[in-house]
Parts: sequence; structure tokens; C-alpha cells
Amino acid sequence: VALGATAAVAASAIAYSRYRANRARIADHSSASSSTTSDQVAAAYPKACIGKTFVVTGASSGIGEETARVLFANGGRVIMAVRNLQTGQLAADRIRQRHPDATGSLECMHLDLASLNSVREFAAQLMAANIVLDGLINNAGVFQQPGQTEDDFQIVWQTNALAPALLTHLLMPLFSSQCRVVNVSSQLHELWGGHSVTDACPPSSSGDSYSDYGLSKACQILHATWLNHFFHSTSSQCTAYAVEPGLIRTNIMRLSSSWIVSLNYALMSPIVKSVEQGAATTLYCMLADPVPQPGYYADCAAKKARDSCTDLQEAQVMQEIFEQLW
Ligand SMILES: NC(=O)c1ccc[n+]([C@@H]2O[C@H](COP(=O)([O-])OP(=O)(O)OC[C@H]3O[C@@H](n4cnc5c(N)ncnc54)[C@H](OP(=O)(O)O)[C@@H]3O)[C@@H](O)[C@H]2O)c1
Repeated sequence: VALGATAAVAASAIAYSRYRANRARIADHSSASSSTTSDQVAAAYPKACIGKTFVVTGASSGIGEETARVLFANGGRVIMAVRNLQTGQLAADRIRQRHPDATGSLECMHLDLASLNSVREFAAQLMAANIVLDGLINNAGVFQQPGQTEDDFQIVWQTNALAPALLTHLLMPLFSSQCRVVNVSSQLHELWGGHSVTDACPPSSSGDSYSDYGLSKACQILHATWLNHFFHSTSSQCTAYAVEPGLIRTNIMRLSSSWIVSLNYALMSPIVKSVEQGAATTLYCMLADPVPQPGYYADCAAKKARDSCTDLQEAQVMQEIFEQLW
């Protein structure tokens, strides 16, 4: 018995020291790296999901599915906001199969960001359910996708920027006192070639260029800048982040020609991340304790976005444009 107890104590001590080391490593930004994974982040803050409710958009694949998985596996209530309920349910089933003993909950709800009406309906359903929201992860996104939405905006810009900002605006009354918002942006915001982001909004181009994608991702960072200004000016303790997940092979380039996609990933292979690594920074911003300083993050550490994305005047102009278009 004594031997068994000693072994149990030793195992607990080892587990505890691993947890402390892991937490110290993640909390110390200098040692968080591009290879830090979503599970490592969650393990560093083991109670951060328990009793909390999160909305993850685009949770039917890629980074969103991985984010939902980790929040659920660690005891969170996760609302998977998906445009296709069938693929959403398949993703939820995959997650449940991986974590049969998880104490969290998963539910799929319909949300099509290419329709502002759908955004309003989704928000109205959550309002009616009277939930308290601890985290909103604006993850859903599209890459080169030409065409206009039913609201007559470029699909890329509406899906990545205009509609998530409306969603955030509509869900704000449900935010808990320390709710965190993460906009999954991209380093490719730097590919947008113009000077003033707001001069280009709403875009009139087709939406199939890297520059169009870059503009939408720049808008997401500006939106986080505006949110943080708004939270601060209303003495709210909520925080907003824009995140660069890295380069991850997901479905994001599904509409690009397959040989270009394969060539792209082959050339970039030294920096391609796994989906577990790709979701790590989102989870860091959502779960880290103490609450990370609001801003732009990559590899679980604060980074510098291009200046025009953190310009408060630009952020306010963009918010005014958004509000007129909603
Ligand atoms: N992968 C990368 O290298 C990379 C790099 C930088 C940034 N990002 C960003 O990371 C985020 C996640 O992308 P991912 O790489 O995980 O790609 P993904 O596997 O294609 O996931 C994108 C998700 O967004 C959903 N979505 C697309 N249009 C939508 C709409 N109109 N309404 C609601 N949901 C919609 C997709 O739903 P369906 O399953 O129905 O298509 C899917 O669940 C995106 O914002 C992307 O821009 C990715």
C-alpha cells in the first residue's frame, strides 16, 4: 500500500511539475514557438474552459474544428456556427469520438456569413436562448472566391470582415464581463497594397486576388483595434485579438487550382504548420491567464501588424462604414 501511495504521489508530482513547466513555457512568450500546439496551450490553463460558453464560426473544418475540439475536450460549452449543418454535425461527431469522456458540450447552429440575414437570425437565436458568452471566435473565412453575396458585397470581404463584425456587434449584449473576441486574421493582411484600408471599403473588385484577401484580413485587425477602443471607452474588461495562425494545409484553398495549391505547400513546407499548431494562438488568446494584452498575435505572442491596421482613426472610420452597410 505504502509503495502504491508513494508511486501515486510521485506520479502526481511529476504531472504537476510538467503542468507548471508547460504553463511557464507558454506564458513566457519568448519560448512559445510556431510549434506550440493547441493541446499544449489548453494544458497550460487546465480550468480555463470549464463552465464557459464559446461560439466558434467555421467550426466544420480546419482551424475552427480544432479550436472547437480543444475547448470541448477541456470542459467548455461550444456552439459550432456552421453554414452547412451536415458537415458541422460530422465535425462534431469526429470531435466527440476523440473525446468520449469530455465534460463539455457541443452543438451546431446554422450561420452563413455570406448572408447578413443569416447573421441576424443566428444572433436572434442566441439572444432568445439568453446565453452568456465568454468567447467569440470569428474564425470562418474564405480565400480567393470571386463573386457577390446576396447582400451585394464581395464574398471574400463580407465573409471575412463585414459579417463577423456584425455578428460581434449583435452578440455584444450577451458578452460576459471578461468576454474575449478573437478574429482569425492572417499575415497576408500585408499583401493588401493600398495605403488607407477604409478608402478601399467596400471593395469593388472580384475577390479572387491575394490583395482582396489581404484587405479582408486587414479589416479584421482594424476591427479588433476598434473593439478594444470601444471596450476601453466603456470601462468594459472584454478584450479583442486578431490572430495570424500561420500556414496550415486546410480546405481554405479549395477553390484554387490543385497544382498551384500543391506547389505552394511544397515550396513553403519548412514553415507549414499542423492544424494543432495553427489553432494554438487562437486558444492562447482565448484561455491564457492572466488575460493577454489586447492586440495582434502570432505563435502565442504579441506581434506588430502593419500600422494602418492599428490606427484608431482608421478603425473608427471603418466602423462607421460597417454600420452604414449593416
Ligand atoms: N490555413 C491557413 O494557412 C490560414 C492562414 C492564415 C489565416 N487563415 C484563416 O483561418 C481561418 C480558418 O481557415 P482554415 O484554414 O481552417 O480553412 P477551412 O478549413 O476552409 O475552414 C474555413 C471555415 O469557414 C467556413 N466558412 C466559409 N464560408 C463561410 C460562410 N459564408 N459562413 C459560415 N462559415 C463559412 C467553412 O465552412 P465549410 O466547411 O462549409 O466550407 C469552414 O468551416 C480563416 O479565416 C482563414 O482566412 C488560414
